[in-house]
Amino acid sequence: MAVRNEAPRTHSQDASRDGCPVKVLGGPGPQPPGDPCVRLKHRERQERAARLRSVLAATYGEDTACSEILVVRAPGRVNLIGEHTDYNEGFVLPAAIDRDVMIAARGRRDRAVRVRSLNYGEAVEFTLDGIAYDRDHIWSNYVRGTLKVLAESGAPLCGMDMVVTGDVPAGAGLSSSAALEVATAVAARAVAARAAAGFDLDGRDLALKCQRAENSFVGVNCGIMDQLASALGKAGHALFIDCRSYEYEPVPLPCDYRIVICDTGVRRGLRDSEYNLRRSQCEEAVRLLRRDRPDVRSLRDVSPEDLPDLEDHLPTPVRERARHVVLENDRVLRSVGALRGGHVDMFGGLMVESHASLRDLYEVSCPELDAMVEVTLDMPGVAGARMTGAGFGGCTVNLVRDDAVDEFRRTVLARYMRTVDPSRLSSEPQVYVCRAEDGAGLMPGS
Ligand code: GLA
Repeated sequence: MAVRNEAPRTHSQDASRDGCPVKVLGGPGPQPPGDPCVRLKHRERQERAARLRSVLAATYGEDTACSEILVVRAPGRVNLIGEHTDYNEGFVLPAAIDRDVMIAARGRRDRAVRVRSLNYGEAVEFTLDGIAYDRDHIWSNYVRGTLKVLAESGAPLCGMDMVVTGDVPAGAGLSSSAALEVATAVAARAVAARAAAGFDLDGRDLALKCQRAENSFVGVNCGIMDQLASALGKAGHALFIDCRSYEYEPVPLPCDYRIVICDTGVRRGLRDSEYNLRRSQCEEAVRLLRRDRPDVRSLRDVSPEDLPDLEDHLPTPVRERARHVVLENDRVLRSVGALRGGHVDMFGGLMVESHASLRDLYEVSCPELDAMVEVTLDMPGVAGARMTGAGFGGCTVNLVRDDAVDEFRRTVLARYMRTVDPSRLSSEPQVYVCRAEDGAGLMPGS
């Protein structure tokens, strides 16, 4: 059997050798400098940051301050392809989006942490020396968990006052939790650098700490994709990530297409329990395959050529789950090739195949996700569509040609609503036209 455990190219942070033949979407260099949409977005972001600074100053006063207020942001993410492959040490291709969590933070002279959430209209207070789970303010556990993991790893944290706001829709599969974790870690790093000894943590290690916080403190057994995308995204690019080595490489997105996210209005439901079940089915597949193939550490080590053997060794539904992962990894590799070669339609076709596989083999779709994909496929300018994220509700991602975006936005939800049962929707379906954005960082002026 063939073994596939190496990514086909060495990844690095250097995008220049991608050889992008065209302008890329949202990138600071290739974007026309006067692009009004980008200018507007940046201005809005500056205004939000300024408001957040004032709220922090008004909420917490100056008494205990030991440094200036700074503002950080960390984006949500959309996964273009490579679903349920990250925890199998496989490949993913997400992009950071232009919706984010923003935190204004200031160091304190003591070990207290005070956090106010503008979205939830709530505030909490705790000390760095005894961080415990908070059942009454679930949102705060992403902040608590991240600080706890950083403190346990020896980072010299100092107390902080923080104000948090965000426009990543919660529970929609766009990683609002990862954005909150990553923003917290970036804020803690920046505050420590000014107020105390400071600590070195690059984007990759920071993402790994945030993932640990979510796994061990919040109790969600997620993979590494969301945190890496939020920490390391690059404007105008998707991020090709090898989830075994954590190496990554930006892949330019076509400049004449937009990422359009459609929120079905269905929220999670079975999501966490079924997510854990899928993970254990993948582990079971590996356990059974290792009887004959001790070199298989994860499904990453199985290639499409091995599939006939899988059929013999695995019972159903473990066989179907493994089949999805193996073929999905291969689709990610082919997608990277298609995007680099400028073959948008080929990439779109792979997105559609990915959706069918998630629906039929991995069984993590739902009627509404299927309907949202189905109604778009014959719409003009749509290169591809698929569910994105863990599944069982949430969003689809579509690649739509620039000149077709307005028509898409005008008609897609009416088409969708004609085919679904409205009583199953717990929030209003939405369309978000997005740009691929840079990953987390300090806002200018901080
Ligand atoms: C969630 C998890 C990710 C990943 C996706 C499925 O978003 O947080 O780690 O497993 O589901 O691809």
